[in-house]
Amino acid sequence: MLKGKHIILGITGGIAAYKSAMLLRLLIKRGAEVQVVMTPAAKEFITPVTLSALSGKPVISQFFTANSGEWHSHVDLGLWADLMLVAPATASTLAKMATGVADNMLVTTYLSAKAPVMVAPSMDLDMFAHPTTARNLETLRRDGVEIIEPGSGELASHLIGKGRMAEPEEIVERVEAFLEARNAGIAGKSDSDMKGQRWLITAGPTFENIDPVRFIGNYSSGKTGFDLAAEIAERGGEVLLVAGPVTIPTPESPLVKRINVRSAVEMYEVCLKEFEMCDGAIMSAAVADYRPEKCAERKIKREGEEELTLHLVRNPDIAASLGRIKGDRFLVGFALESDHELENACSKMERKNLDCIVMNSLRDGKCFNVDTNSITIINRDLARKKYSAMDKRELARLIVENIIDEQKRKKKEN
Ligand code: CTP
Repeated sequence: MLKGKHIILGITGGIAAYKSAMLLRLLIKRGAEVQVVMTPAAKEFITPVTLSALSGKPVISQFFTANSGEWHSHVDLGLWADLMLVAPATASTLAKMATGVADNMLVTTYLSAKAPVMVAPSMDLDMFAHPTTARNLETLRRDGVEIIEPGSGELASHLIGKGRMAEPEEIVERVEAFLEARNAGIAGKSDSDMKGQRWLITAGPTFENIDPVRFIGNYSSGKTGFDLAAEIAERGGEVLLVAGPVTIPTPESPLVKRINVRSAVEMYEVCLKEFEMCDGAIMSAAVADYRPEKCAERKIKREGEEELTLHLVRNPDIAASLGRIKGDRFLVGFALESDHELENACSKMERKNLDCIVMNSLRDGKCFNVDTNSITIINRDLARKKYSAMDKRELARLIVENIIDEQKRKKKEN
């Protein structure tokens, strides 16, 4: 994938700059031609000599070479590249990129680059968590920059948290997957990719009432479904977001209409009514499989009772019900499996007549209420796309891109 590709490797002044030498080596090993551009601060962390020896090209960090007066053209560099990758990307460089503060060679090159840009942020946990950084990353994301999420672990400050640059191997994998996706013509977002389409999305948990004050529920935050709604709306599609009880805000778009429900049966009824008017549905809700047979009219009292037995009955399977009536509509399901992941996910896709299934991996036993997830998208022809720990918003983009791609493929086949 990287053979003959021209890559600008931007290195900024963070402790993770030492990993850039390994990253550079991996890129070169896979056949890429790499031009390193450093910020002045980066030289405090790694020497240009190491990097030029590894890349076989002089490192660029100034607008002019001091002794010869040679001018380095950021415009030519921007045209030469197939990809610009900034790793590590410090909070300061991200801010400059987001706002266009072109006071060094790296940012001027970014502003001139015609090629796609990827950044691998690296900073202390509080800096990464700060709303300013989040805002700058969101701006860059909206500008089409691909963010390679940092990992969690011990940081240079010895504090433990999120902010550690992704490992070089993971960055290279992401670069390859990204270029491959672009080659297949699915990356690069347009605000009209989904224009004229209407999508139904289920999100969040369902609550099944036991009595007027108690219920059976789960920890689903609804974030994945809400991010998917935002992604489709950004691409011009209309969304009907059928949300269980969640506290997160509805994506701000006139294209997103939200219907609140509480129980699985309520969610089922809305979905069945609305699906006919939709081009597809994404079933991201964590629907309770069972509900109490009867909801007590009054609060259940414990007086004299040593045990309480609840009799539960099966809830309707919304995804499977839509699968039975879907016709040529596109139906996406999710699977959270702990054993025989692939096998179970594929049989779920078959059983529910889905066009594609997104398999969530449990990380440390967790999937709900975490910011990042690892997923595998499995299409009906069993082709698989695996993505490691990424921001959920980013995953939403990949899921929607896969839908667009599959819709195109289906159209071609018919
Ligand atoms: N789903 C649904 N209605 C249900 C249960 C699940 O629409 N009553 C949807 C989920 O939104 C998800 C997919 O079906 O897209 C798979 O959900 P999951 O809970 O993993 O599967 P189950 O069919 O409940 O199987 P199991 O819990 O036994 O793994």
